[in-house]
Amino acid sequence: MDKLVIRGGRPLHGEVAISGAKNAALPELCAALLTAEPVTLRNVPQLKDVSTMFALMRIMGVQADRTADGLVHLNAGPLHDPKAPYELVKTMRASVLVLGPLLARFGHAVVSLPGGCGIGSRPVDQHIKGLQAMGAEIVVEHGYMNAKIAAGKKRLRGAHITTDMVTVTGTENLMMAATLADGVTVLENAAQEPEVVDLAEMLIKMGAKIQGHGTHRIRIEGVDHLHGCEHQVVADRIEAGTFLCAVAATGGDVLLRFGRADHLDAVIDKLHTLGVHVDVVKDGMRVRSDGAASGELRAQSFRTTEYPGFPTDMQAQFMVLNCVAQGASKVTETIFENRFMHVNELVRLGARIQIDGKVAITEGPAALSGATVMATDLRASACLVIAGLMAEGQTDVERIYHLDRGYDQIEVKLRALGADIERVKA
Ligand code: UD1
Repeated sequence: MDKLVIRGGRPLHGEVAISGAKNAALPELCAALLTAEPVTLRNVPQLKDVSTMFALMRIMGVQADRTADGLVHLNAGPLHDPKAPYELVKTMRASVLVLGPLLARFGHAVVSLPGGCGIGSRPVDQHIKGLQAMGAEIVVEHGYMNAKIAAGKKRLRGAHITTDMVTVTGTENLMMAATLADGVTVLENAAQEPEVVDLAEMLIKMGAKIQGHGTHRIRIEGVDHLHGCEHQVVADRIEAGTFLCAVAATGGDVLLRFGRADHLDAVIDKLHTLGVHVDVVKDGMRVRSDGAASGELRAQSFRTTEYPGFPTDMQAQFMVLNCVAQGASKVTETIFENRFMHVNELVRLGARIQIDGKVAITEGPAALSGATVMATDLRASACLVIAGLMAEGQTDVERIYHLDRGYDQIEVKLRALGADIERVKA
């Protein structure tokens, strides 16, 4: 198993290119299942999760090819088996995004239940309820969702669906299914995340009739069939946010090419009050910071909420900043019940953090000192890398397969900015 070895204390300078968003690329790969025509995606990041989605597409019979520069060609003509097996779904929950498209186009699908994951129980009941409202019969047995369109019907039917909570992949699954349903579907309480908007824009290029994406009410008028398209995956706001936090922590001056400041308002607001400069520039954003060692950073309290609020996927990376900034902060996690697993590892590096249920209280400034730490989930891993970049001495981050799921060559990008970081085969 690979690990990252980091010797901290260096500021970051230069330019980094932000990759396409994992959370947009995954549903967009699934959207190719909605048509028999070829689909081309550009700017697809090189990630383990993308490879897993490729494996899933291929076992179902989809032709899927990609080049090193992020170009992907998919062709989902006739499939031999619309089935997503447990072996793949258990490694990546987003596999559940094949359910809506398969059901809408082929009339049946068998998809493993994803089960829990490190950060919480993460059920898919809203996906199931929504599809049932559209006329699907879904039986859960032996760990699988066996879904089919009711006997005598050829297609799903439009429905008025209000989800119990805002769910990103739930919205995406139902929106994709609705594109090929009979009649109009309205999704109330829909997710407004930029990745949902990017998926809607791709579906519209395929011939879907969608309105209201980017709001809490999405209206989809079903069409007879969708055609192929070419689409560029939106830039990854969480990767960009992670680099913002890294530069804030170490100090330096970095241009994030392609980074979308307009997708990170809540994070950038907090960075400004923390004492970091983030400016919108042509083609991206520029971040400048004197770093934690300057004593100029002021800890910021925040609570995670759905977009456009503070993203849960940035909670861990911002928390490490709070640990080294002046003063106390209160971090409240409202989306997932078990998303403080990085805390114990940060404490091993010298951070002072107390957890009480959904709230973590940090007390700063802490002087971090290098140690061996263990990555526990994707964003927790990123926070440990940022901690390592600041810590005195050497930090070894183990179990970085979590990091490889969602960050495109993070150590290569950080090294180009001046960090002392290397991947070591263990
Ligand atoms: C997506 C993102 C993930 C991000 C999360 C929240 C992808 C591939 N992943 O995950 O990176 O952290 O949004 O921004 O886009 N819930 C239910 N029942 C459901 C669906 C969700 O109870 O049927 C709950 C979840 O357990 C969670 C909350 O709703 O507490 C939000 O989850 P959701 O938005 O669905 O997260 P994902 O789409 O899985």
